Amino acid sequence: MSDQERFNRAVDALLADRSPRAETAHLDDEERAMLQMAQLLRGTRQQAPDPRFVERLHDRLFPSSRRISRRTAFLSGAGALAAGILAGVGIEHAVTQDDDNSGGTALKPTNGRWIQVATVADVADGAVRPFTAGAVQGFLVRRGGEFRAISRICTHMQCTLNFAQAQQDLVCPCHGARFDMHGNLISGPGNSYYPVALPPLHKIEVRVNGEAVEVLGA
Ligand code: FES
Repeated sequence: MSDQERFNRAVDALLADRSPRAETAHLDDEERAMLQMAQLLRGTRQQAPDPRFVERLHDRLFPSSRRISRRTAFLSGAGALAAGILAGVGIEHAVTQDDDNSGGTALKPTNGRWIQVATVADVADGAVRPFTAGAVQGFLVRRGGEFRAISRICTHMQCTLNFAQAQQDLVCPCHGARFDMHGNLISGPGNSYYPVALPPLHKIEVRVNGEAVEVLGA
């Protein structure tokens, strides 16, 4: 299989909402970077893909009228994709960060709603709990009595992160990236997968409402 065919298959897997992991094993650094950009622009997999988004992405990647390669199409269209794609999956990003100025921006579901994921009594200080709030997956963290929540979706290729109790960090089972409990990248994945540092994990808004711990889900 040629490099171009492998890249095409990886893009097709992304568009079909499948992990392109198998196809990325043989891609070069530039192709992986392009694929990574597509995945970042696509937002998160925390919501089912919007058919309009898929259609727009197809149009951007494969503009038949201009008869240019997927690679050229992708590079030329990448910047313009961001807003439309994020809107297409129903997620937009807040521009502000938390006071500690660490981790990524907060997810802002377009039609977000507060969803209870625990009670205060459920979560001991120091605990880390995975949760699903509708289409949003994250970790609830309690430190010093305060709650925060971060996305459980790796910013590389959107695999689901696991909490490593011994290291007190989040590890990706796919290519080994590690994030701290604020969502900042600690290490990985290796250069063979992505040549630049991954973005931090998104934050998820959280509040205590009486005895309920709620996050802004979708
Ligand atoms: Fe590759 Fe997470 S998906 S490191």
